Amino acid sequence: MGHPRVDAVAGEARAAIGRAASSADLEAVRVRYLGRQGTLTQILRTLGTLPAAERPAVGAAANEVKRELETLLERRLREVQAAERRRERAAARPDLTLPGRRPPRGAVHPLTRVSDEIAAIFGGLGFSVAEGPEIETDWYNFEALNIPPDHPARDMQDTFYLPGSLLLRTHTSPVQVRVMQTQRPPVRIIVPGRVYRRDIVDMTHSPIFHQVEGLAVDRDVSMADLKGTLELFARQMFGARSRIRFRPSFFPFTEPSAEVDVVCFRCGGDGCRVCKQSGWLEILGSGMVHPTVLRNVGYDPEEVTGWAFGMGIERIAMLRYGIDDIRLFFENDVRFLRQLA
Ligand code: PHE
Repeated sequence: MGHPRVDAVAGEARAAIGRAASSADLEAVRVRYLGRQGTLTQILRTLGTLPAAERPAVGAAANEVKRELETLLERRLREVQAAERRRERAAARPDLTLPGRRPPRGAVHPLTRVSDEIAAIFGGLGFSVAEGPEIETDWYNFEALNIPPDHPARDMQDTFYLPGSLLLRTHTSPVQVRVMQTQRPPVRIIVPGRVYRRDIVDMTHSPIFHQVEGLAVDRDVSMADLKGTLELFARQMFGARSRIRFRPSFFPFTEPSAEVDVVCFRCGGDGCRVCKQSGWLEILGSGMVHPTVLRNVGYDPEEVTGWAFGMGIERIAMLRYGIDDIRLFFENDVRFLRQLA
């Protein structure tokens, strides 16, 4: 039935279809044999140049081969496309053997951490945490603390006043008053919180900062208890070999009053740039609760006594981590926060 020239093309084309591994391969085969310039197309198009006796046989054979190749191409194309889809699906499937990707983990802010540590140290001594409002009245922030309207101590506190004779508390001491008003002695509290003063921002000042207040009131509470408690605190906060000293001072709400220094973390007491050659760094104000304050909250100063202290959390954190610029705590540059995490 066939014709040698047509048979040769058919054999070649069948083999090429069998070898084709992709739809692109098959398209190339189709173009090569059945395309406009394709081998088989050329045969059909040039039938007229053949001797008349050969034309019908060659024409019939070529047309038959053309139909056959079209069928073969179509069938092979379906197989190849199915295989291609299987490969694509396999590639899209997640590879469960890949290592996991860890999400970045946050950390507690250094000020919160120092505040929590202070709370934990005093918690171990039986103190509980109390809190109070940041917007205060003049009475709680000043008057009840024995700072009357004309007292020079008011000049010591540069205050943000709000409408309606309210103000932003300048220290955590008003919480002493609030707690004592609602609680009978014995009282043992620490009060962490944010406080506000009209200060210009620089390396050691910020109009917003944090304090921790401490207050202990009971029968026979003495200055010696205050010293022992703060010594213990300093050893836990700054290391077992750390030392503190008391310097006489003045606060309207304590009598006697003392400022407490800790040995310089940098030079260990020899004197250096950080401690301005003194060997000591001030960490807090303290004293025996003034009898007037006790009376203002309804306590009897003949029956109970107490001590109080207030320290700046930023200052403690700066000493603890050797940081010389308070602004770092508020800028919250993650590179800084990560170093302390
Ligand atoms: N309230 C004082 C201050 O802000 C600190 C202080 C607290 C002093 C308690 C004595 C007793 O400076």
